[in-house]
Amino acid sequence: MSVSEYTPANVCEYIPGLENIPAARSSISYVDGQQGRLEYRGIAIEELAAKSTFLETAYLLIWNKLPTREELKKFETEIYSHRRIKYRIQDMMKCFPETGHPMDALQASAAALGLFYSRRALPNQDYIRQAVVRLLAKIPTMVAAFQLMRKGNEPVRPRDDLDYSANFLYMLGEKVPDKLAARIFDVCLILHADHTMNASTFSARVTASTLTDPYAVVASAVGTLAGPLHGGASEEVIEMLQKIGSVENVRPYVEQCLENDPKYKFMGFGHRVYKVKDPRAIVLQNLAKELFQQSHDDSDKYYDIAVELEKVIEEKVGHKGIYPNVDYYSGLVYRKLGIPADLFTPVFAIARVAGWLAHWREQLGENRIYRPTQIYTGQHQSSYVAIEQRS
Ligand code: SDX
Repeated sequence: MSVSEYTPANVCEYIPGLENIPAARSSISYVDGQQGRLEYRGIAIEELAAKSTFLETAYLLIWNKLPTREELKKFETEIYSHRRIKYRIQDMMKCFPETGHPMDALQASAAALGLFYSRRALPNQDYIRQAVVRLLAKIPTMVAAFQLMRKGNEPVRPRDDLDYSANFLYMLGEKVPDKLAARIFDVCLILHADHTMNASTFSARVTASTLTDPYAVVASAVGTLAGPLHGGASEEVIEMLQKIGSVENVRPYVEQCLENDPKYKFMGFGHRVYKVKDPRAIVLQNLAKELFQQSHDDSDKYYDIAVELEKVIEEKVGHKGIYPNVDYYSGLVYRKLGIPADLFTPVFAIARVAGWLAHWREQLGENRIYRPTQIYTGQHQSSYVAIEQRS
């Protein structure tokens, strides 16, 4: 009944959370956490945010090239004509409890897509392209459909005459958004599309390595993204700002949190890789500022509270490399666009499907099933004890 730490021969040291342990070789995106730099296929995120569109960026990530005008038009047309979801999936979603979290609804409906498209054709390039198109096309429709269904309404059909972001906002709000709102939303999708080996992308690659279907890969990644330590933080940030309530209350709030728990984790702050302000947070903060200024609503203090909170938290824990991450300002933008807080993470998922699909393709290109080892800390030679003799 000895208890031992069993380390198999030639095993590396155990690193919790696999911190700094490479899990793949990848050319999709690159992060410099000290310089606060993010590149997609070598192009700086700031340049893509200013000059590209989400579908063009998705094409770059997935197919490893900026598309020609004709290639982009073909890609867009394919996606716009595959946005509808099967009535069986809609009927299934109508049975979901309206109190359920939209990320759970998305994970279930994304997995359900696999019921219609067998994985047997996996090595076929047409199958791969069709799966890329279907997932990019249908995930926004699923997110918007659940939003309307949980309010007791029939989902609206996608409009082929609207571009990717305008159509999503239309399906969600049942009215065509103005061009600025659609453009700002599209930039948000660009900013969230990929981010090297984050938890949900790692989850996608592990699932992809077993050669299951891409719908299961995306469903696996959606489930991982949902956690508050990962993509779920943006919803928590808005709740925190609401709780603080005023600029004057920021410092007392922060000091109270740290007095109660010196290790208190402020949502929207900190990052395993970035030890400076997340470059995406900088772009998102500018978008939030533009929307708040454009709204001319002086009663809405959320942006001012967020800026003051950033300043006070930097004062308190900035020395630990704790700065705003992508989730800190994104919720302020989405809230101004009329998106409910519990849809912030599904919106993150809509964007990250592009990255997950790029990593799915890359994994298939040089695949070996993930099977790490462990440090065994349990017992050996234990005996079975009859139930009568157990205490
Ligand atoms: C995303 O990986 C990615 O790329 C993810 C992502 C992507 O695009 O896919 O960028 C998206 O997930 C952004 C992160 C969103 N999550 C949150 O905002 C939740 C709050 N953040 C923390 O939970 C945390 O910062 C993590 C999870 C993001 C990172 O945690 P780590 O790297 O495991 O850091 P840690 O827990 O080991 O903490 C190191 C130190 C500790 O202090 P000490 O023990 O050294 O004294 O930093 C402190 C922590 O207490 N710390 C924080 C903090 N996060 C870490 N202190 C205050 N507030 C925080 N948020």
